[in-house]
Amino acid sequence: MPADARLPETWATNSAWEIDPVSSDEQTAAYLHRFSEPEDEVLRAARARSEEADIPAVPPETGAVLRFFARLLNARHVVEVGSGGGYSGLWLLGGMDGRGSLTTIELDPGNQSLAQQAFAAARLGDRVRSMLGPALTVLPKLADGNYDIVFLDAVKAEYLSYLAHAKRLLRPGGVLLADNVLWKGKVADATVSDDDTDGLRDFNDAVRDDPEFQAAIMPVGDGVLAAVYIPSG
Ligand SMILES: C[S@@+](CC[C@H](N)C(=O)[O-])C[C@H]1O[C@@H](n2cnc3c(N)ncnc32)[C@H](O)[C@@H]1O
Repeated sequence: MPADARLPETWATNSAWEIDPVSSDEQTAAYLHRFSEPEDEVLRAARARSEEADIPAVPPETGAVLRFFARLLNARHVVEVGSGGGYSGLWLLGGMDGRGSLTTIELDPGNQSLAQQAFAAARLGDRVRSMLGPALTVLPKLADGNYDIVFLDAVKAEYLSYLAHAKRLLRPGGVLLADNVLWKGKVADATVSDDDTDGLRDFNDAVRDDPEFQAAIMPVGDGVLAAVYIPSG
């Protein structure tokens, strides 16, 4: 890590009070990006393959959040909705218990095979159950109350439908994670209305208003919602 990697770029050359407040959001985002530890070769290659295939993988700082929760919970059973090229799955596996298994759902066979390639490159293929099909068809096949983490990263307009499944799948104390919940600022912008943005707003509200979840939104990457499942009764 370079000597100044722990400081916002401007701090490395100017004094703190010279930071332009107009650009401070971008500076903070850049700092968070630099703060993420360098990716290992397997992650770097998975991200490169995802970019080449035009799959929007989570940024490394979001990957670090996924790994953080997996480690915190010592997760043994995790569901991912939207495998992409396997990049986020690698981060999740990086924090999970060494005997843990990742169930990852993907609609597109080409993306599924890229993800499988990424898991094989990390020698983690035997810890991954890769399921092909639309999430709303596959999720009902998974066992109730069995999962430490459910991570959502597929169709934004479907997040609300995924929520009912996530609640059924999570064990008490399990954590729901969802990416893109700020949707590049559109969720907070009342002038924007489209299926994805409205779907994300409805999802965020539903989690917040559900007394069986305790939720927080972290402005990391494109926004990560984390909610602990605490069933009543
Ligand atoms: C944002 S990408 C996932 C990126 C991945 N989580 C990562 O960060 O490396 C979304 C993925 O969801 C998949 N997808 C789209 N519709 C889906 C559906 N109905 N069910 C399951 N997966 C779907 C897409 O093919 C794409 O690979």
